[in-house]
Amino acid sequence: MEVEKTFAMVKPDGVERGLVGEILGRFEKRGLKMCALKFMRVSRELAEEHYGVHRDKPFYDTLIEYITSGPVVASVFEGPNAINAVRATMGATDPAEAAPGTIRGDFGVHIDHNLVHGSDGPDTATREITLFFPDESL
Ligand code: RTP
Ligand code: MG
Repeated sequence: MEVEKTFAMVKPDGVERGLVGEILGRFEKRGLKMCALKFMRVSRELAEEHYGVHRDKPFYDTLIEYITSGPVVASVFEGPNAINAVRATMGATDPAEAAPGTIRGDFGVHIDHNLVHGSDGPDTATREITLFFPDESL
């Protein structure tokens, strides 16, 4: 199995609800290693860059509003198959459909507030890590 790095973010609702420790703890307990961590505000510019792939989707404006609405916690986790491990731990995009035992399945009910983000592939992971941690050699 390939050792990978992936970008994971606790979204504003996760921070607001005091779930940062719970969410990051699940990645740690899964066996992934935290290798970067930052409490920050996502600017409109960064949000548009990060979610550029969704620019033409009907939910784009809501998504940008949401992700810039309060502080987030940005992180990088490393481990075997880290990209899929983080996504599986997060659960389905829509918390209403996410399985119990996943972060979204345990703490969410609405797709507009789904608590957490994880890179969806190797290229995205590299891009997002560089975008959120431009000054670090990760
Ligand atoms: P993420 O990028 O945040 O890790 O989530 P994801 O891969 O599971 O889902 P993606 O398709 O990339 O969508 C990005 C975020 O946009 C919001 N969304 N809303 N109302 C809707 O139909 C809808 N679809 C997506 C969610 O916040 C989703 O996480
Ligand atoms: Mg995505």
